[in-house]
Amino acid sequence: MRVYDIIKKKRDGMALSEEEIRFFVEGYTCGAIPDYQASALMMAVYYKGMTPDETAVLTDAMAKSGDTVDLSEITGPIVDKHSTGGVGDKTTLVVAPIVASCGVKIAKMSGAGLGHTGGTTDKLLSIPGVRLDFSKEEFISIVNSCGACVCSSTASLAPADKKLYALRDVTATVDSIPLIAASIMSKKIASGSKNIVLDVKAGSGAFMKRSADAKALAREMVSIGDKNGLNVTALITNMDAPLGYAIGNSLEVIEAVQTLKGIGPSDLTDICLHLSSELLYLAGKGSLDECFDMAKNALFSGLALERFIWMVSSQGGDTSVISNTSLFQKSKYFRTVKTRSSGYIQRINAEKCGIAAMLLGAGRKAKDDVIEYGAGIILDVKPGSFVKTGDRIATLYAENESLFDSAISMLSDAFDVGEECPAEIPMVIDKFSNR
Ligand code: URA
Repeated sequence: MRVYDIIKKKRDGMALSEEEIRFFVEGYTCGAIPDYQASALMMAVYYKGMTPDETAVLTDAMAKSGDTVDLSEITGPIVDKHSTGGVGDKTTLVVAPIVASCGVKIAKMSGAGLGHTGGTTDKLLSIPGVRLDFSKEEFISIVNSCGACVCSSTASLAPADKKLYALRDVTATVDSIPLIAASIMSKKIASGSKNIVLDVKAGSGAFMKRSADAKALAREMVSIGDKNGLNVTALITNMDAPLGYAIGNSLEVIEAVQTLKGIGPSDLTDICLHLSSELLYLAGKGSLDECFDMAKNALFSGLALERFIWMVSSQGGDTSVISNTSLFQKSKYFRTVKTRSSGYIQRINAEKCGIAAMLLGAGRKAKDDVIEYGAGIILDVKPGSFVKTGDRIATLYAENESLFDSAISMLSDAFDVGEECPAEIPMVIDKFSNR
C-alpha cells in the first residue's frame, strides 16, 4: 500500500477502505508517514469529506493508537463531558462539581486551549498549586473520594489524535466534521468513558460557525458513540457571543465561582444546568425534569461550590483563592474600551474576543507559548444591551503594556451597535441523543 495512492483516492472523492485508513493512522503515529503526506490527506478529507463508515474506522484506529484507560475501579455511576471549544467556556468548572455533589462521578481528561479557544486545563492551572498530572491510581482515588477530578490527557492516550490535531491546527484543516468527530470520540473511547454529554458549540466563536454544521457534527458523534456501545447526548449550544462576561484563565475561574454561588451570568448558569441535568439523566438519576431540579438545587444550595473547593483541594490547589477570589494574582496593567455610538449591541463576535484575549497573553498563538493566567477580558455588555456613546464595554488585562494596541483593535471590531434590539438566541439550540 502506498500513501500516495490513498491521498489520490481521497483527492478524487472516493471512500477509503478500512485497511487504507488503518495503514495511514498506524504509519503516521509511528513516524513512517511524513507530515507533508498526512497534511495532504487531511486537506483532501477537508474538501471531500468521509462517509460515516470511514469516520467510524478512523475513530477506532485513532482510539487504538495508544493506551486505553480502564475506569472499572471507580464505584457508582460515572459520566464525562466534552466541549467542542469556545470562548469564555468555563462550564466544566461548574458542571463537574454540580454532578459530583448529586452523587455521580465525573472523571475528566481535558486539553489545553489552542488558537482563539480556551482550555479547561489552563483555567485550572491558574489556581496556585493545582496538579493535573496524576497517575491512574491517584486519578481513580480522587474520583472515588471527591466525585470529580480533571486531569490532563497523557501523551500515550490516542497519540494519533495528538499528532494529527497539531498538524491540522497549522494546516487550516481543524474545522472538518469527520476529523473533529473522530478526534473527539477517539479520545472519549480511549479514556474509558461510557456516558458522555457533548457540548457542540455553534456560532462565531466555534469551529462550526453554522448551526447546520454543528448539528451534522453532533449526529456524527452520537452515531460513533452508538457503534461503540456508548450513551451519548449532544447539546448544540450558542457560541455566537462569548459565554459569560470573563475571557481568560483566572478571570474565568472567578466567574465560575460566582456561578457556583448562584450569582453567575444567566447564559452560563443556563448552559451549566442543562449540561448537568443531561449528565445526571445518563447516570440514571431520574427523569430529565427531576435531574434539572437536582442540578439547580446543588447549584443554589452551595453544595456544588463546596464540592468544587474539595476538588481543588484534592488536586493540590490553594483553596483560599476560591474562598476569596480577590486573592488571585492580578495582571499588572489594564485598559478600557468604550463605545463610539449609541444603540443596542447587535453582536459580539466571539472569535474576535478570543483572539484579543490570546493577544493579551491569555492563550497560545503557538503550542509552546507561555500563558499569563491573569490576562484577559471582562466584558460589560451582552448582545441586546443598550449603550450610549462613551460607555465602557470591556476592560482588558495584560502583564505587558505593549500587548494592548493590537488586542484593543481586534476587540473593538467584535462589537456591532445598531438601532434595533436584536432577537434573543436560545442558549440550547438543539439536542441529539442515542438514549
Ligand atoms: N476538539 C478536539 O478535541 N478535536 C478537534 O478536532 C476539535 C476540537
